[in-house]
Amino acid sequence: MSRIDAATERAESAYDWVDSRLDLDDASDFLGKAFPAEDSFLLGEVALFCFGILVATGTFLAFFYEPSTTAVEYSGSVVQYQGQELPAAFTSVLYITYDVPFGMFLRRMHHWAAHLFVASIALHMLRVFFTGAYRNPREPNWLVGTGLAGLAMFAAYTGYSLPYDEFASTAVGIGYNVAASIPIVGDPLASIVFGGQFPTSATIPRLFFLHVFLIPAAIAGLIAVHMAILVRQKHTEAQRDGDVSAAGAGSAAGDTSRTSSNPEATDGGARLIDRDDDSVVIGLPAFPNQAAVSAVVFFLTMAVLSLLAGLLPVHNIAQYGPNDPASTPSLVMPDWFLMWGYGFLKLTPSWMSFDVLGIHVSSEFVGGLLLPSLVFVAVAVWPFIDRAEEPEHFTRNYLDRPFPTAVGITGVTLVMVASIAGMDVIVAEILGTSTAALRPYLIGALVLVPAAAGTLTYAILGGFEGETEGGPPPASGEDRSTSGDDGTPSPTEGSDDD
Ligand code: HEM
Repeated sequence: MSRIDAATERAESAYDWVDSRLDLDDASDFLGKAFPAEDSFLLGEVALFCFGILVATGTFLAFFYEPSTTAVEYSGSVVQYQGQELPAAFTSVLYITYDVPFGMFLRRMHHWAAHLFVASIALHMLRVFFTGAYRNPREPNWLVGTGLAGLAMFAAYTGYSLPYDEFASTAVGIGYNVAASIPIVGDPLASIVFGGQFPTSATIPRLFFLHVFLIPAAIAGLIAVHMAILVRQKHTEAQRDGDVSAAGAGSAAGDTSRTSSNPEATDGGARLIDRDDDSVVIGLPAFPNQAAVSAVVFFLTMAVLSLLAGLLPVHNIAQYGPNDPASTPSLVMPDWFLMWGYGFLKLTPSWMSFDVLGIHVSSEFVGGLLLPSLVFVAVAVWPFIDRAEEPEHFTRNYLDRPFPTAVGITGVTLVMVASIAGMDVIVAEILGTSTAALRPYLIGALVLVPAAAGTLTYAILGGFEGETEGGPPPASGEDRSTSGDDGTPSPTEGSDDD
């Protein structure tokens, strides 16, 4: 027996061993699952890959980072700090940046991956929103996604605090004040998250634990649920131009176990899928086609992040210096994705502080937490407002949905105007005025601009003329539970998920 034959035999017996336990032949059906070939569907994958890259680069950083504010003598290569007693967290990030091989590159990569993670989540969410892919039966996945968006922002916020430099610590301190302003539970909650009154020696270890363990574990868990629901329900698909000749379509036993079909493999067993038949998903098979597309997306994500990490510096802690509770930097701002919340905080007038039943509600709580939370609640409940009684598996054209599209544009504009308000110091400087003089205009803009944008969108899309697309796409008239007349199995017969 040649060496190749022996190796083949060993591989076969290893396969049989695993197959006898995991039923791989059955699982291999999954590899034929269809992925609709829509470019915008790749945004979720970008988010997924960013999360993987964040875990990998974060693991590297954690090997060198010290979650402590204890003063230690710095002896690294940044001349201005040599011989100084500095917080261990701050010095360890200086070491990572300037002394650890590849440290600066991987720190930057972690930073840019965090930004791309949040950006791709936001774009993915907008894609799902504007195509109506959140409707029945996908409301649960929309809710899981909303949770993921919140956790991603919280992960970035806790990471921002870790270098314990002057700029980031001041910005993180704003979050502490907002958390402490929650009526009744604020103080204990802020103490639990920040380890006492910010900043104490317990703050950094606590935020470190949240950043490297609790939040990533929660994100990983929710991503697993998100993907499990996706696999179970399968993707939505764009409206087809016409009937599709497809092979590999087994069958399905209901809406939540729709079958997958690969239109490229039309030899043998090809059959015609009606353009309105939503019991079959038409797309690329998971393996090898979609796997190849995903690999390209992964390497492109890596390439973009490498380029950013190679060319663009991040948060220059050597310039900001270590946290100094006695001073405040002249310009403090959160990251761009928290800017809208900061804008609400800045624009909420102080007269919004009031007492109800002896409980004090501060304007800080209203602007910094209540209003941003209401935005999240509005996002979470939206699929139950724009709801579909019957399951829908085709995406919608946003141009045919004046009301949901107008609501989406209103929301996006609101977040944009609030973000500009968060940068009021810069805006005032550009316009040569003061933030106090700018404030009434920003408050007006926060109410009027989103309302105007939404109304205009609604009008342009013919909403006032009642030209809305109602209900699910027209049915083909095909009975979901019977075989086709030509003897080929109908898309609803049997099940590839049996
Ligand atoms: C860590 C964050 C997230 C990751 C890694 C992720 C990943 C994915 C992936 C890979 C898909 C399939 C491809 C696609 O349709 O893009 C998907 C689908 C979906 N996601 Fe997300 N997602 C995340 C956050 C969100 C958010 C914030 C929402 C909405 C609030 C959301 C709602 C959905 C829905 C409803 C689907 C099914 C869409 C369809 O079938 O057309 N996801 N997600």
